[in-house]
Amino acid sequence: MFAALGRLQKRLKDWTIRHPRLANWVFQPAETIAEDAYAEVNRRMFSLWGEQERMLADKPRMTFYHEMIRRKIRAGDRVIDLGTGTGILAAFASRQGAAKVYALDHSTIIEDARLLARRNKIENVEFVAIHSRRFKTDEPVDVILHEQMGDSLFNESMVANILDLRDRLLKEGGRILPARFEFYCEPVQLSDHGTLPFIWELNVKGFDFGSLEQYQPEDREYYFFSTTDTTIVDHFLCEPTPLMTIDLNTLKRSDLPMEWSMGLPVARAGRMDGYAVFFKALVDDDLELSTSPLDKGRAPHWGFLILRTGQLRVHEGDVIDMSISADKGWANTDSWRWEQTVYTTEQYRDCMYEGDEPLEDEEDCPSGSGKVPLE
Ligand SMILES: C[S@@+](CC[C@H](N)C(=O)[O-])C[C@H]1O[C@@H](n2cnc3c(N)ncnc32)[C@H](O)[C@@H]1O
Repeated sequence: MFAALGRLQKRLKDWTIRHPRLANWVFQPAETIAEDAYAEVNRRMFSLWGEQERMLADKPRMTFYHEMIRRKIRAGDRVIDLGTGTGILAAFASRQGAAKVYALDHSTIIEDARLLARRNKIENVEFVAIHSRRFKTDEPVDVILHEQMGDSLFNESMVANILDLRDRLLKEGGRILPARFEFYCEPVQLSDHGTLPFIWELNVKGFDFGSLEQYQPEDREYYFFSTTDTTIVDHFLCEPTPLMTIDLNTLKRSDLPMEWSMGLPVARAGRMDGYAVFFKALVDDDLELSTSPLDKGRAPHWGFLILRTGQLRVHEGDVIDMSISADKGWANTDSWRWEQTVYTTEQYRDCMYEGDEPLEDEEDCPSGSGKVPLE
């Protein structure tokens, strides 16, 4: 019996390898499987009070949400609170006069949310223990309220979850709160205590590790880490510029580019240790939430990512030609790859521009010629 099942499994696997395109019609696409697997991790993680506490105790976060709801939810609105957790945002919406709030959560924390709402005399909230993808209502809603942002913005399946609800259950002209995000990937110099050279860059009191460079690990987790310790960041090397700006009201999943390249002019010289990845959620000119390690009012419970690059010396006026890709989608941090070359302004202009006009194809930049390894 088991042998027969094993043979069947092997045949299916061989068939899948021979027909990779058709396989997507028969089996779930890899992206959906990854999302389902992540949903299970998420469900367990947020069942813990420890996770919920960190979010509730994050003052900039709670002030941002309280103020956004005060400004943007109107009396009589019908609202979906996607991922209600302890029910705090649903409670804010109810107190703001919402006619009805569907408070959804796939985790057992929803039992605590029900009890807390009763004790706090919160009305008009219906708690539904469900994954949002399976939730339905007869009448579309005015607002989708959510906090689905991970440390690297996309890694808690925000885009997949919101777009699914938006396309099925949000009224024409309805609101997503928050909807606008800036996603940053900033070249950074780490502080002396935060610097973490790759092992092959090290020479510890005359003992040289350079020979390990040829055996660089394939495990992606080696190349990035997430932290809430803002003291490890010394300064940004460039003027912060968002890599992407997205609006969940209009975004299509296919709009998210799989690859970005840009030339980043160095504004403050130093040693490039990597990129700091963080985000901002924008509501009004005077209302935003930031996870930038260098913003004083940052929301502290969110980590930010450091994508390690190896150490490069950069000077004011140099250009960091960076490219970053996510071939399995931005939600999957393990699929991110990044590369950079440092050029002087002249080298960069010579290979990217003809006069003031950008060239269609990059000229042959002397490969790596502008790269300035740290002495
Ligand atoms: C970051 S927490 C936010 C909790 C709460 N809204 C708050 O602001 O404190 C995200 C919550 O969403 C829930 N969640 C995540 N994805 C979900 C989904 N697709 N459907 C239902 N619940 C989800 C998690 O279980 C978790 O409680």
